[in-house]
Amino acid sequence: MKVRNPRRIWIALVVGLGFVTAACAKHAPQTTLKPEGQPGQKINGLFHLTFWIAAGVFVLVEFGVVYLIWRYRHRDDRPEPVQVHGNTRLEITWTVLPAVLLLFVAVPTFRTIFQLAKTPTDPIRVTVTGHQFWWQYDYTDLGITTANEVHMPTGRNIEFTVKSEDVIHSFWIPRLSGKHDAEPGRVARISMKADNPGVYLGQCAEFCGLSHANMRLRAFAQTPDDFDKWVAAQKAPPATPTPGTPAGDGYTLFSVKGCAGCHTVNGVSTGMVGPNLTHVYSRSAFAGDTFDMTPDNLRMWLHDPPGVKPGSKMPNLNLSSAEITNLIAYLQTLK
Ligand code: CUA
Repeated sequence: MKVRNPRRIWIALVVGLGFVTAACAKHAPQTTLKPEGQPGQKINGLFHLTFWIAAGVFVLVEFGVVYLIWRYRHRDDRPEPVQVHGNTRLEITWTVLPAVLLLFVAVPTFRTIFQLAKTPTDPIRVTVTGHQFWWQYDYTDLGITTANEVHMPTGRNIEFTVKSEDVIHSFWIPRLSGKHDAEPGRVARISMKADNPGVYLGQCAEFCGLSHANMRLRAFAQTPDDFDKWVAAQKAPPATPTPGTPAGDGYTLFSVKGCAGCHTVNGVSTGMVGPNLTHVYSRSAFAGDTFDMTPDNLRMWLHDPPGVKPGSKMPNLNLSSAEITNLIAYLQTLK
């Protein structure tokens, strides 16, 4: 056989290689291949075992295929080979061998599944609730409610109870553990542990609507001391701004413009539709961890939430520029 268009084959090869190398990003904050802490490491170990077994099978099979194609290629002087059907010894071999290989993968897989499903010792319990399009965290024992950014002390197990308030989401911090669906009406559990301080990015991993891709999250693993400081700050009551200042006017607008109907600020309002804002300005980002927490971004957001985050449940309140300035001044006091 003659290759009709070798150029095409080369183009296909280069494009294919491009796709493969495009997956190898240098800066990959959400890679599962650099796990932190035990659950992630166990899953990664399982991946490596499966990968290398599969790679071995792939190389052997491809080598055999290429060799046989070459060895028995058509030659004009070669007669048609003898036609056979069935070879018991071969068929037993290629049934038993994969079964044994699967067993090699299945035993550690089941072991890991059961290990990860166990309730960890002395965990910090956090209920994580998926909303379109942000995450709510309730530290059940500590009495803290926050959004999108979860804090955890290093070396300590965190047990997440995963729920959803509306549609199916999926809670995923790739470097810390596997993902788990957050389903309405169901409760799931997943535990994580970070060995080293750091910021671990995550995101919703189940298509949940227009801003699914804007439903991000991040975990801050902190030394136990830093974590305790964070807890103390989160438990403190919110600031009450002085009347007559821009922040004071923003505080009034917060109730007048309806913000209070959807957001809780401890001791001020009890809205439950949007994130708890008691210490919103202590976070590094907002709106499902999509925008960095800066006055400019808050201005852009308050001007037209669904305009910058499609499908956002927060409506455009048609705030004037002066109102936005005052509301931002108030939010900045909520550290
Ligand atoms: Cu929530 Cu995708």
